[in-house]
Amino acid sequence: MTNTYQSAQLRELDALHHLHPFTNHNSLRSGGARVIVRGDGPYIWDSEGNRILDGMSGLWTANIGHSSQELAEAAYRQMLELPYYNTFFRTTHAPVVQLARKLAEIAPENLNQVFFGSSGSESNDTAIRLIRHYWALKGEPKRRIIISRTNAYHGSTIAAGSMGGMSHVHAHSYPCYEGFRHIMDPYWYGESEPGEAPEAFGLRAARALEDEILAVGPENVAAFAAEPVQGAGGVKIAPATYWPEVQRIVDKYGILLLADEVITGFGRLGAWFASQYYGTRPNIITFAKAATSGYLPLSGIIVDDIIGDALMAHDDDFHHGYTFSGHPVCCAVALKNLEIMEREKLVPRVREYTGPALAKMLAKFTDHPLVGEVRSVGLLGAMELVADKRTRRRFADPGRVGLICRDHFIREGFIMRAVFDTMVTAPPLIWTDAQFQEAEAAIGRALDLTMRDVAGEIAA
Ligand SMILES: Cc1ncc(COP(=O)(O)O)c(C=O)c1O
Repeated sequence: MTNTYQSAQLRELDALHHLHPFTNHNSLRSGGARVIVRGDGPYIWDSEGNRILDGMSGLWTANIGHSSQELAEAAYRQMLELPYYNTFFRTTHAPVVQLARKLAEIAPENLNQVFFGSSGSESNDTAIRLIRHYWALKGEPKRRIIISRTNAYHGSTIAAGSMGGMSHVHAHSYPCYEGFRHIMDPYWYGESEPGEAPEAFGLRAARALEDEILAVGPENVAAFAAEPVQGAGGVKIAPATYWPEVQRIVDKYGILLLADEVITGFGRLGAWFASQYYGTRPNIITFAKAATSGYLPLSGIIVDDIIGDALMAHDDDFHHGYTFSGHPVCCAVALKNLEIMEREKLVPRVREYTGPALAKMLAKFTDHPLVGEVRSVGLLGAMELVADKRTRRRFADPGRVGLICRDHFIREGFIMRAVFDTMVTAPPLIWTDAQFQEAEAAIGRALDLTMRDVAGEIAA
């Protein structure tokens, strides 16, 4: 493509014809998009020839890195053999069966059945419909309310967007679907009271769930839905007390637990799924993104035997499905991706090497005048940029300094994402010392340059 179109021309055509996701099109049109031309392992290249270290794994996707020949060959072989067939009307094929079996093997013990889609949003829509269908099958159709959390991101379709807790997402084109409630997110740095210890805060945030269940009536509540670590909301890592208390509460009221593992699935926390890392017992896991390391769109939900058995016991259709549910090429690529992750031991490597290396690298910036907090779990990390470290005071106009910093990062050859003024990272699982050193140098330079730009706003 870049041979036929020069990058300036691509930028111009992009501005004329291409509407981007989550983008200010006014500023995009004046500034133009960066044209990415290729990827290799932990790096991507833009059309100006800049090599950039990808600290976001694409969009939390490229766990095995970019441009794997093996994944390309798996897709090619499957395309020649059976490029597409649907899984409606009592048909199936080898890649979808093998992948479903593999996912049942790596998921928590009692999650054994898989429904496929193409995106994380679709997987959450599927989960919402199935949760309500489940309660109807159990003779409790009043149980329709799904409780989730402020700042959660569960996708952009209307149902997933309604279940998510981002006010700027809700603000567009809704009324949101009814039947969703949002409780506080377990964001200790941003939400705790002065002097409140993380453990006490974690319990308080979890008990907001119990308060909400009691407020709407337990007999009306179908499920609690949450990302094990809030990703797009700013890599918010719950204190250690949070998940055990949440599990206690969902058990007490007999409501379903939906773990949205679209970001945390496939090794990011050093276990196949974050639910295993935290020891929670979800009834449903939704997944997407890194199932194929992002090489092809594939998502789905893995359900436990309680839900699976209820479906089996009922002699009627679950009226739900997508043309691309269980697409054979996507499944073949996912199988190869999981095989590579196992062969290269990428999941234990997060526990033993890459996770601790990320934590160590971020910790070096704790004393930087711009940085209020660094935090990480596995290969998910964040740095809070603040105007006053001591009081945690934010900069005026949230998001402005984050964007300044993000642009410095990219100029320094490193991608970190800005969530307002929180810089977040989710590196591919293949990083070695060389990439950690490179990232550390780029972060140091980018923070200093950002500091120079906002020096007048920082508390002495
Ligand atoms: C936790 C979570 N759930 C769902 C989604 C939506 O996935 P998709 O963009 O594939 O629809 C995302 C996307 O970032 C996500 O982070």
